[in-house]
Amino acid sequence: MSEFDFDTRSNRGGTGAVKWTRYGPDDRDEMLPFWVADMDFRLAPVIQEALQARLDHGFFGYSEPTPSLNQAFIEWLYAQYAWQVREDWLVWVPGIVPGFNLACMVLETQGASIMMNTPVYYPFLYAPQNTGHRAIYTPLTQRWSRPAEIDFELMRSSLAKDTRMFLACNPQNPTGRVYSRDELSALAGFCIEHDLLICSDEIHSPLVLDTKREHHTIGEVAPEIESKLIALFAPSKAWNFAGLGCGVAVIPDPTLRARFRAVHNGLVPMMSPMSMTAAEAAYRHGEPWRQALLAYLRENHRLLHDRMNKLPGIHMHAAQGTYLAWIDVSSLQLNSPAEWLRSFGIALSEGSQFQGPGYVRFNFACPRPMLQAGINRFETGVHAAIDRRDDT
Ligand SMILES: Cc1ncc(COP(=O)(O)O)c(C=O)c1O
Repeated sequence: MSEFDFDTRSNRGGTGAVKWTRYGPDDRDEMLPFWVADMDFRLAPVIQEALQARLDHGFFGYSEPTPSLNQAFIEWLYAQYAWQVREDWLVWVPGIVPGFNLACMVLETQGASIMMNTPVYYPFLYAPQNTGHRAIYTPLTQRWSRPAEIDFELMRSSLAKDTRMFLACNPQNPTGRVYSRDELSALAGFCIEHDLLICSDEIHSPLVLDTKREHHTIGEVAPEIESKLIALFAPSKAWNFAGLGCGVAVIPDPTLRARFRAVHNGLVPMMSPMSMTAAEAAYRHGEPWRQALLAYLRENHRLLHDRMNKLPGIHMHAAQGTYLAWIDVSSLQLNSPAEWLRSFGIALSEGSQFQGPGYVRFNFACPRPMLQAGINRFETGVHAAIDRRDDT
């Protein structure tokens, strides 16, 4: 029995929580949300207490990351992934989405191309265009029989003369892949061979579910990539305070870091004092809660995986990491499967948003009774779609 309560559902109605308002109503069960990546679990008590103490202090002026926050992150990163980074390599950002958009802005050539694997967390798709560049999308190999894989051959043949950067996501949203050391070292080799910068979004790194795998960070796996690397980390996903806005870019190369800082300053606000307090509490004291969370998520994952794969024609690969399930519903022959499922009271993310048509993404980080209710609705929606398909 965990000392933390993940089973009780709290009413988030009236707080503006987008997860609950987007497909509303936010205070009743007509629509259960399993889309955006935040969790329906209350904050870890140690983080809540740290925030309360900070609140009681009563001052919220412009604030810089303290040496104590930097140390907390550096020690956590080393303890988790054996990557020793220096304090002056860190640039804190108020979110990882701004972080990878800023990373694209460091490119000196305007109108360059930036490569990424798809399907991927959809703000990746637009970051090149947002920043005056062009995107090259290279799909991961997705087969029924095995987890998604990086297709290096396709990446090689898709390179253009003006390709300057690779945007990586590990653990990968939405496929849940956690890349191995071999895959990461091959990715680093690819970037070095073709002289590409690499921006590696590792926001989901504390969320490895597969007990036979662990997260490896590319800067530790391939130190030779350091001069080309912008690695992004955040505690906000794993410890569930995405709304506070918080992340850190680790940029070992001084020139690259100076360029990143130059585009950052004046454009992106400083981190909020509350988010820095939450971050430090998570990195210093959040491990027991995270371990209990992982145990709970593994059980939710097992339940979802079993039930999905029993449905005729529906296929879900085990998610190695994240709390997001990537479910192949293409056999239902629906144009917008998530929209179809909403009419059965369950809000999921549409795969096409991530460049994965025929899939839906299911966020299973919620109290188990809510998950069970959601799965029941999913099943009803699938059976109705099968009947409709077979009638036509
Ligand atoms: C891979 C990935 N990066 C970034 C984010 C969002 O980061 P932030 O809220 O810090 O901008 C998410 C949120 O789901 C994500 O999955």
